[in-house]
Amino acid sequence: MTIELHPVTDNNFVEWRKAVRHGFGFHVHPDDIARLRNDRAELKRLVAAVDTGSKRIVGTGGADSYSLTVPGGKTVPMAGVAYMTTSVTHRRQGAFSLMMSQIHDDARERGDIVAGLWASQSHLYGRFDYGLSVNSYDWSIDPSFGTFAHSPISDVEESDAHVYFVGAEEATAMMPGIYDQMHHQTIGSLDRNSGRWRYELFDEERVRSGASPLFFAICEEAGEQTGYVAYRMRRTGDSDMGTLEVSEQVSVTDTAHAAIWRFLLNFDLIGEIKANNRPTDDPLWWMLSDPRRLSRKSHDALWVRLLDIPKALEARTYNASGRLKIGLVSESQPKVSSTYVLEIEDSQATVKKTTDKPDVIMTPADLSAIYLGGVTPGTLVEAGRIDTITTGSLAKLHGMFSTDSAPWCAHYF
Ligand SMILES: CC(C)(COP(=O)(O)OP(=O)(O)OC[C@H]1O[C@@H](n2cnc3c(N)ncnc32)[C@H](O)[C@@H]1OP(=O)(O)O)[C@@H](O)C(=O)NCCC(=O)NCCS
Repeated sequence: MTIELHPVTDNNFVEWRKAVRHGFGFHVHPDDIARLRNDRAELKRLVAAVDTGSKRIVGTGGADSYSLTVPGGKTVPMAGVAYMTTSVTHRRQGAFSLMMSQIHDDARERGDIVAGLWASQSHLYGRFDYGLSVNSYDWSIDPSFGTFAHSPISDVEESDAHVYFVGAEEATAMMPGIYDQMHHQTIGSLDRNSGRWRYELFDEERVRSGASPLFFAICEEAGEQTGYVAYRMRRTGDSDMGTLEVSEQVSVTDTAHAAIWRFLLNFDLIGEIKANNRPTDDPLWWMLSDPRRLSRKSHDALWVRLLDIPKALEARTYNASGRLKIGLVSESQPKVSSTYVLEIEDSQATVKKTTDKPDVIMTPADLSAIYLGGVTPGTLVEAGRIDTITTGSLAKLHGMFSTDSAPWCAHYF
């Protein structure tokens, strides 16, 4: 039996979508097929692995188009790799590798500078030179321990930041503007187009897993909308200590963040607030009078692969000037294996290949991991992942690549 790659068209889209969902162990609802086709899928970016004997789709993959914010605030085009599955009947025959290779070639041809993904398993993508660039925390807190010891809002009564409920329709109109502002000011964040907003806000009963429909609240300051929260309630009766599940909380000012978390932590009849995928440097922990009550479970968020090393390195800004030669060693991309010299002046880098001896040696996955400032180079040296060759090279690498804030990717895909 042979596997070959086919394009996805309107003729095989339904079979392809069914195969994606089966690959993750789900049946597919007809709405889901229509929604994906209308609001999200870019057919030309999808791929099907077909068994040439049975002519059935046995593997699926593809990418969504995004723009990723890098240190300094520029955005770069990113292939958001998704939909990767191989049927259990055809595992370990190379379908996944074949599809990943085509998706990367296609992305490079389109001019994407990076590829990114959320991984179902954290050991799958290192082999393709993806590095863990953005981490995040899943939170849980009993709101009765939600007293603030510190807050950027010194006097709640006097504060201009106020939070109010809105219905789904109003929220749909207000949230994209706030999200977009956050996207441009947050390293590691991705844009969301209007189709994707519709896709994200789909709220039929079957996607709620027994919780309530979404509630929405907006924070406004001086007439500007500066934050929002979308959440669900999970409770069985009026007197039950229920759970409030934050679906997404975004703010563009410290005061909006404080006002929205004050609002959430003030809820009565709630035994637990859960909020997944929070930034690793979110200030809430530092605001609480009993911070240990905020339990934070770390998980890997966005994995990044640099598709065009010089362009990616030149797109971000740096915290220190100087010259550094980075030797990259890649088993999966022999063409990328080379030494790159970064000349940094006024926070911008010019990047060229060189035949000189490198100051540091790492894999492209490790370069991706430090690219957004999500991990310090020292940690990767200690982990035996980055080799320092010349004296002082770690301090240089650290000084150049460090960022003022940790990356955060609010958008899961
Ligand atoms: C993960 C998955 C797509 C791999 O598909 P596949 O076609 O069997 O993968 P390949 O045959 O191309 O294998 C590629 C490499 O990954 C390794 N690999 C694949 N799946 C693996 C797994 N679950 N655990 C460990 N290694 C795995 C293979 O051993 C191979 O390594 P090698 O190149 O060193 O030989 C498939 O198992 C699957 O559909 N899983 C369920 C859905 C899922 O988790 N998708 C990923 C979404 S992010």
